[in-house]
Amino acid sequence: MCDDELIPPQADMTEQEWLRTGSATTAGGPPPRTTGRVPQWVNRRTLLGGAMAGAALAVLPSPAQSPASATPRIQGPGAFPFPRQPNGKGEFAVLVTGDAGTGDEAQYAVAAAARDVCRAEGIGLAVGLGDNIYENGPESDDDTEFQDKFEKPNSGIDVPWLMVLGNHDCSGLIPGSGGDPSRGDREVAYAATSRRWYMPSRYYSVPLPAADPLVEFFAIDTIPWSSYVAQLDPHYRWDGPYMREQRSWLEGALRASRARWKVVIGHHPYLNNGKHGSAGSYDGFEIGNYTSGVHLKDMYENVVCGRADLILSGHDHTLQILEPTARTGGTRQVVCGASAKTEDGTAHFGHPAAWQNFADHGFMVLKVSGARLTIDAYTVDVATRKATLRHRARQTRPVAAAAPAHA
Ligand SMILES: [Fe+2]
Repeated sequence: MCDDELIPPQADMTEQEWLRTGSATTAGGPPPRTTGRVPQWVNRRTLLGGAMAGAALAVLPSPAQSPASATPRIQGPGAFPFPRQPNGKGEFAVLVTGDAGTGDEAQYAVAAAARDVCRAEGIGLAVGLGDNIYENGPESDDDTEFQDKFEKPNSGIDVPWLMVLGNHDCSGLIPGSGGDPSRGDREVAYAATSRRWYMPSRYYSVPLPAADPLVEFFAIDTIPWSSYVAQLDPHYRWDGPYMREQRSWLEGALRASRARWKVVIGHHPYLNNGKHGSAGSYDGFEIGNYTSGVHLKDMYENVVCGRADLILSGHDHTLQILEPTARTGGTRQVVCGASAKTEDGTAHFGHPAAWQNFADHGFMVLKVSGARLTIDAYTVDVATRKATLRHRARQTRPVAAAAPAHA
């Protein structure tokens, strides 16, 4: 169980308003309309701890340092190279992890178990689905947390790691709020000095192989559309230039991609049977521009569904391989956020699932060939650091092959 996933007393408050609010009853005005679920109340110990930790930071988010660019930068010196060809099994094999950045024993145990599977499967690439550095993201471009919560646990998994931003990576005073997106720039900057960490910009794409791609990954920043508080920096507002540019980029990049398989990777899921729920009603809220993820839902439905084969997400500390449906346009949602934390063992929603687990730590392996796309889901016993293959899902027909041509 985790106790750091904070849910605000009222949607679309700023961090300052939230911190000034002592309880839901003092927030003023009627209570927020919800889906009927009872929102989890703020854990005051965590909130105060986060406020103290954030005291050294600027109270207000600083203006964005630079506009996001989808143009990959050159990797740092000595960076592990991207695979140029499939492994000996004729596949590009990719380790998938999420919500891993605690530095705790469970993260080390999952990484150790994954390391053995990586060797057996011929992994050439890895994915980190956000919440890379708990609780508030790095304090600088070379924060020691990069070593303690990423490099050391993942030692021996010596491949490029496609990293995306999570709400904890972009928080200000309140851990996990996502209220300070500019902090994510530190994770972009860190990529220039790491052999593993690949984040050339806040959103980007990676085709494999580069020359004649079989699969292309589209890494997106879901935070400003899903933050627990309203964005103060106009650049990162839900309708501000950053999110408009990202949406436009993703739409064009998916359309232009020549890859047979297309995989979108982002922290917040479109569909989710775990406690946080799905985009548009995250954590029981259906009002406002931020907390519910209503604009992320719109983006997934109008840009991604029917165009990408997979959405790989974290945020919920669970393992879910959901079924592609007519609603998703044939796109499959996968949630893989149990690489350091777990949840309450309970399914909170009923989206059709091929397999799901709400209690165990784990990771997944995505294997891509011309003939098929395979997802292996593993749970990990933390005490023994051993992984067990629990489910294998396959699909043989790319979504784009079945979909009408997009205008
Ligand atoms: Fe998260």
